[in-house]
Amino acid sequence: MLFPTVLALQPPLTTFGNQLIDAQGVPVHLHCIAWSGAHEKSYLTYGIENQPLPDLVSKIANAGFNCVRFQFSAELVRLNPIIDPKLLGPNPQLVNKTGLEIYDAIVQELSSKQIMTILDYHQMDAVVCCSPLDENGAWFNDRYSFDQVRDLMQAMVSRHKSNPWVIGIDLRNEIRPMIDFATIFGLSVPNPLTAFLPVWGLGGKWDWARAAEQLGNAALDINPDLLIIVQGFYQIQLKEVWTWFRHNNGDSCRKPRIPQVIKKSFIDRYPVTLNVKNRLVYSCHTYEFFHDFDYFNLTYEDWKKEADLYWGDVAKMNIPFFLGEFGVDHNPTAVHSDFFQYVVRYIEETKINWAYWSFEGTYSPAPGGFCSAVNPLGYPEDRTKENGYGFLSLDYNNTASQDLLYELKRIMFK
Ligand SMILES: *[C@@H]1O[C@H](CO)[C@@H](O)[C@H](O)[C@H]1NC(C)=O
Ligand SMILES: *[C@@H]1O[C@H](CO)[C@@H](O)[C@H](O)[C@H]1NC(C)=O
Ligand SMILES: *[C@@H]1O[C@H](CO)[C@@H](O)[C@H](O)[C@H]1NC(C)=O
Repeated sequence: MLFPTVLALQPPLTTFGNQLIDAQGVPVHLHCIAWSGAHEKSYLTYGIENQPLPDLVSKIANAGFNCVRFQFSAELVRLNPIIDPKLLGPNPQLVNKTGLEIYDAIVQELSSKQIMTILDYHQMDAVVCCSPLDENGAWFNDRYSFDQVRDLMQAMVSRHKSNPWVIGIDLRNEIRPMIDFATIFGLSVPNPLTAFLPVWGLGGKWDWARAAEQLGNAALDINPDLLIIVQGFYQIQLKEVWTWFRHNNGDSCRKPRIPQVIKKSFIDRYPVTLNVKNRLVYSCHTYEFFHDFDYFNLTYEDWKKEADLYWGDVAKMNIPFFLGEFGVDHNPTAVHSDFFQYVVRYIEETKINWAYWSFEGTYSPAPGGFCSAVNPLGYPEDRTKENGYGFLSLDYNNTASQDLLYELKRIMFK
């Protein structure tokens, strides 16, 4: 007689101290991968124009990921257009379906292979992220009021309510300071009157912690079983400004890097409190380019001290933590760089939950940086460029990097 060596995962998940547990009380470690695209202007997840959906999902399952952090925008939910059939070649079963119907079909396919989905409310407008001028750094803008943002989120949660494999919602991606520019005497200058600087628990319309609480409770009103993922935000760090200042070399396009943080001091001051117990997960993202250039010329111990300060101390609190994005170029040099090795080692030591950015072999590059960010809502989408951070190769047939796969396998804890 054969006995299963591990119990099959049984969603939904709840929090238990700093762990996640399934419906049978078995601890679950999230090792996810982002699968993006539905949040952009074609309203379609990348890869659907390249390979049959079941093949793509098999690649996720075979690599060992147990969940997908799955991007969408408010605009997708609001407009929900029929997707251009030219993008559906390998998936004729999806022709004439709307953006949300295709999103649903992908979630269904993932669920059929017992891969969990985290709905990721990435942004409001369907744009290529993240221009400093794109008005998608907050959780509301001129086009989407807070009430609309909440209602569209509830609509999305409703669609997936009956599927226990949809385990959570990431309330908003990478809240960041926004600066609008005013034209004065023909010059474009920062307009302090329309600036947006997120704060934690201090009240007022810039208070992300309280907005997250309201959004989280609104999601739980529809589906009380969801995990509610609350990210920190980008915050200027004086130490990094100083590093930038010393090494700037007069390059006016090189602004100081701004890391995303969720500090223990935030939570001590204002812990997010939801109406349903054991649903809250805190989250933050990290990339090498969130920090100033030689900042990572550091030993692991030094790096860890900074990571702890920015988000790692929260991971040591009695609440689960989700490193919701980290990634690296898939060339072997980058995979073996200090930065990436340090992140992997940190996850090995702390066993935090994580999601790698990202699965798709192609993406639409944004003309990045302040100096080229002139037409925020009008970037042309070009879905054919190689995604340097892609887990899959450009043609979607193979894993882009065996080295990367090897590193990620090290941190897929049972
Ligand atoms: C898609 O819709 C169009 C217009 O209604 C119809 O002519 C076409 O046959 C449909 N295609 C499929 C594959 O259902
Ligand atoms: C980084 O560290 C190496 C080895 O200690 C040193 O040679 C190099 O100058 C440092 N780079 C910068 C930009 O500080
Ligand atoms: C990649 O996969 C596609 C779809 O499955 C297939 O048609 C194509 O021949 C493959 N390309 C290579 C180089 O294997």
